[in-house]
Amino acid sequence: MARKKIALIGGGQIGGVLAQLIALKQLGDVVMFDVVEDMPQGKTLEIAEASRIERFDMNLKGTNDYKDIEGADLVIITAGVPRKPGMSREDLLTTNAKIMTSVANGVKEYAPNSIVIIISNPLDTMVTLFQKVSGFPHERVIGQAGVLDSSRFASFIAWELDVSVQDVNAMVLGGHGDTMVPLIRYANVNGVPVMEMLERKYQDKAKAKEVMDAMIERTRKAGGEIVALLKTGSAFFSPASAAIAMAKSILLDEKRLLPCSVYLKGEFGVEGYYVGVPAVLGENGVERVVELSLNEEEQAAFNNSVEAVKNSVANLEKLGF
Ligand code: APR
Repeated sequence: MARKKIALIGGGQIGGVLAQLIALKQLGDVVMFDVVEDMPQGKTLEIAEASRIERFDMNLKGTNDYKDIEGADLVIITAGVPRKPGMSREDLLTTNAKIMTSVANGVKEYAPNSIVIIISNPLDTMVTLFQKVSGFPHERVIGQAGVLDSSRFASFIAWELDVSVQDVNAMVLGGHGDTMVPLIRYANVNGVPVMEMLERKYQDKAKAKEVMDAMIERTRKAGGEIVALLKTGSAFFSPASAAIAMAKSILLDEKRLLPCSVYLKGEFGVEGYYVGVPAVLGENGVERVVELSLNEEEQAAFNNSVEAVKNSVANLEKLGF
């Protein structure tokens, strides 16, 4: 069986980790495109020179020419500027919309049959724009946000309860902004509800809720917490890991159920917008959206988050994109 071809558009912080993870996990050959001359060539050469040590046979190539992504099966996009301390993801809109438009045209021309995962922010709006410019079917254009937001939430729960993070299942829905919706009722440690464990730990329902609320707030602001600490850029190891989980599910047709930004056609009461919800990812991209029942409070929080996405998309249109 021929190896899969994976194109990375953007060879910055996240792009570099993506290339390394793809090689280490032997998911396919990598072509890294960037507008900066020589940099993607240097990064991929460097990773390739570790192949003897890490024992992988993948090909890695860096390029400044879209032609080299020709025939890619999967494209992962990180092109764009990251946040600086004090910035919201929305502050990146104008700059990244211009970049995303040029990227969508390049991918449309040279990899028209690819499945595309987008990481650039503001996430849900960048996914919307890529799909609009490329005209790709919605099921082949997917945003990475929920896998990382959920992993952050799960990590905070594991640290709080002193259990292995591997046993924590926690999901975050909605847009990838400060209004995202970490789901409390569905969070569990190998099936045991997290709230029940918190209540037993503190023997006090109000205190348990307070602790949960603090974890939710930290999850919503987790990207900003990293930006404030790094000072020169935003999170890059963890977004790369999250996108690779999605890429693997698609390339190996694993059909994992992962929270991703996908196009909704009435599911969760949303029509015609990209929003973070659970979806099954397989060889065709988004194979289906999985609906789950939300109580009144959860639905209200979800609707609020959808409003934030709608506002961002409206801003994009006002800017003429
Ligand atoms: N085409 C291709 N690549 C581009 C373009 C373009 N038109 N414009 C900029 N780039 C490249 C930059 O040269 C840079 O190498 O995109 C890369 C972005 O890398 P970083 O600045 O290191 O940013 P990174 O941390 O990787 O984040 C990328 O993902 O999480 C989001 O908010 C984050 O929008 C940001 C994106």
